[in-house]
Amino acid sequence: MPETRVPRRRRFLVCEPRHFAVQYAINPWMQPDIQVDVDLAREQWQSLIRAYRAHGHAVDTLEPVVGLPDMVFAANSAVVVGGRVFGSLFHAPERRPESTHYETWFKTAGFDVYRPESVCEGEGDLVWTGRYVLAGTGFRTSRDAHREAQEFFGHPVVSLTLVDPYFYHLDTALFVLDDDNIAYYPEAFSPGSREVLARLYPDAVLATRDDASAFGLNSVSDGRHVFIAPQAETLAARLDERGYVPVPVDLSELLKAGGGIKCCTQEIRS
Ligand code: ARG
Repeated sequence: MPETRVPRRRRFLVCEPRHFAVQYAINPWMQPDIQVDVDLAREQWQSLIRAYRAHGHAVDTLEPVVGLPDMVFAANSAVVVGGRVFGSLFHAPERRPESTHYETWFKTAGFDVYRPESVCEGEGDLVWTGRYVLAGTGFRTSRDAHREAQEFFGHPVVSLTLVDPYFYHLDTALFVLDDDNIAYYPEAFSPGSREVLARLYPDAVLATRDDASAFGLNSVSDGRHVFIAPQAETLAARLDERGYVPVPVDLSELLKAGGGIKCCTQEIRS
């Protein structure tokens, strides 16, 4: 019998894809000027918000801004641990203006915001495990930002190198299940980083390339329910065997921009 998993209530910040588009290509999933169905993107995104609320999670929203088509990917705007907000500095000039809008939201909500000096794309690359931060680099967030985050939070930051351009953010290749475990796709990491993950998480749930390509690792777990792309079938079955409850949410329209469930979700940890 698998363990009974206990969920913990979360607070999320999200931004509706009202002005969603693919106008530039900053990752291999994006084909510039491909037609997107904004109504479908909005419906799919609404289904994610409904699923969060139905499972007891609090959801805050931020107003989308015209001309910022990737603003729906709230995870990239910051990392929040213990009520401390480490802001963002985007790699792509097209996304840089997003930081200020998110910063304004956080300030209005009563948080101070630290602005990193080096390129840092929030929870896209800095993943809080409950004890330390796993930090991705290779495509977006710089190693200098890992050092800055360690200094800011006073929690250990473990640097991991991403090697596959399709998995350009850490949150496309790995997610945290609970305080004790993670799921990830080993081939997205350099050999040394793979070894680090195997040492830290000997019982991790491993994903296949198909799972990862369906953005199955861009999932959000509350410790019991795992909000996950329905196409990541092998991974969902493995999670089920371990006592987690997959909650399928299809964001296929947002995948045209290289984003999924976790990308759309900023967690506010008080
Ligand atoms: N088009 C966006 C970009 O390339 C997608 C961001 C996805 N966000 C994430 N947390 N992985 O920046």
